Amino acid sequence: MENEVRLGIIGLGNMGQFYARAILDGEVPGLKLTAVCDMDKDRVSAFEGVEPFTDTDELLKSGVVDAVHIATPHYFHTTLGIAALEAGLHVLVDKPVSVHKADCERLNAAHTNKDLVFCGMFNQRTDPHYLKLKSLIDNGELGEIRRIQWTVTDWFRTEAYYGSGAWRATWKGEGGGVLLNQCPHQLDLWQWLFGMPAEIYSQCDLGRFHDIEVEDAVTALMRYDNGTTGVFISTTGESPGVNRLEIACERGLVLLEDNEIRWTRNEVESSVFSQESDQGFAKPDSWNVEIPVDGNGEQHMGVFKNFTQAILKGEDLFCPAEDGIHSVELANAILYSGLKHEPIKLPLDSAEYEACLNKLIEESTHVKKVVETKVETNMSASFQKK
Ligand SMILES: NC(=O)c1ccc[n+]([C@@H]2O[C@H](COP(=O)([O-])OP(=O)(O)OC[C@H]3O[C@@H](n4cnc5c(N)ncnc54)[C@H](O)[C@@H]3O)[C@@H](O)[C@H]2O)c1
Repeated sequence: MENEVRLGIIGLGNMGQFYARAILDGEVPGLKLTAVCDMDKDRVSAFEGVEPFTDTDELLKSGVVDAVHIATPHYFHTTLGIAALEAGLHVLVDKPVSVHKADCERLNAAHTNKDLVFCGMFNQRTDPHYLKLKSLIDNGELGEIRRIQWTVTDWFRTEAYYGSGAWRATWKGEGGGVLLNQCPHQLDLWQWLFGMPAEIYSQCDLGRFHDIEVEDAVTALMRYDNGTTGVFISTTGESPGVNRLEIACERGLVLLEDNEIRWTRNEVESSVFSQESDQGFAKPDSWNVEIPVDGNGEQHMGVFKNFTQAILKGEDLFCPAEDGIHSVELANAILYSGLKHEPIKLPLDSAEYEACLNKLIEESTHVKKVVETKVETNMSASFQKK
């Protein structure tokens, strides 16, 4: 254990298989895959040389792992996360950490033993573009942020995708649609970069582009206490889509698109210029700043490396699982506002939202079509692409 962490992966679908193969290929120094677990026997038996489990309880008490990664459908992130922490194991939970805020609260409350490393798979935090933006914001280089707009519509999904798993795009199996499956990364980055808004008002369309009961198109308006506004737009129904983040700030305009950060920098902060200029139509002088950024970072393997080093050497986590509650709260509040057609104040009432979701599950009449299709995970779609 001193130089090696023994890992079990729970859930061997698209993501679990990808992680298991990469770890078996030695991509994460110090991390050894010693067990896999899935209720599907064929998926488990495809991995030779590791302990196979079809029952999660057996894995958790087996003694063959020090840590688990949970890559099952989202609802199990909470129950399995709690069970693993209670079994004294380190836990890496995939996104979203839970389906709704009340489950996040339950999961976070189970992390009582702080010797256990509890990490979230927010792999896009390793992307140097977002790291650069974060340092520009945190160092005050951009001045106060006035407006944020993120259009992330390059999540196009087909009916075959939704039909590829009975749990997908159902209230009961997934608890939401594009906000909970595709957007957790951007919603996590949103709160990581800009903090949490005070109020959200949104339009959410349920099954607008697909034969599904959950949301596949959202437009949300956010308001911060200091007056900053935000617009977040996403859908799985547009092609071609875009991934464009625009930040209007005192020091100009920053645009992140196509793997490029373009900053038009004001010489003087815009509000200062407005107060001091004696000309009605004048604007601050500005120039284009080149910000060289290379690649998209280590992504998932970067998180596994950080998780491993946190266990072995006490390295600080760059995505503690506890942080995951914020992206879930944003997703829940956007959906809740869309369902109620009214603004939602944050912090969200977690019990009220859970009751609403339970009602949707209870009253669901949608008949889900499941088709046997092989759906490959297209992870590159989640990064800023050229
Ligand atoms: N971090 C990322 O970039 C990223 C990308 C895609 C998906 N994900 C997340 O990974 C998770 C899994 O997504 P997927 O696309 O791999 O799903 P999937 O449907 O392809 O696979 C899920 C697997 O979990 C197994 N499973 C279900 N319940 C289980 C249980 N209780 N115990 C053990 N195994 C169980 C299923 O048999 C299946 O093999 C989701 O929460 C999703 O949000 C993360």
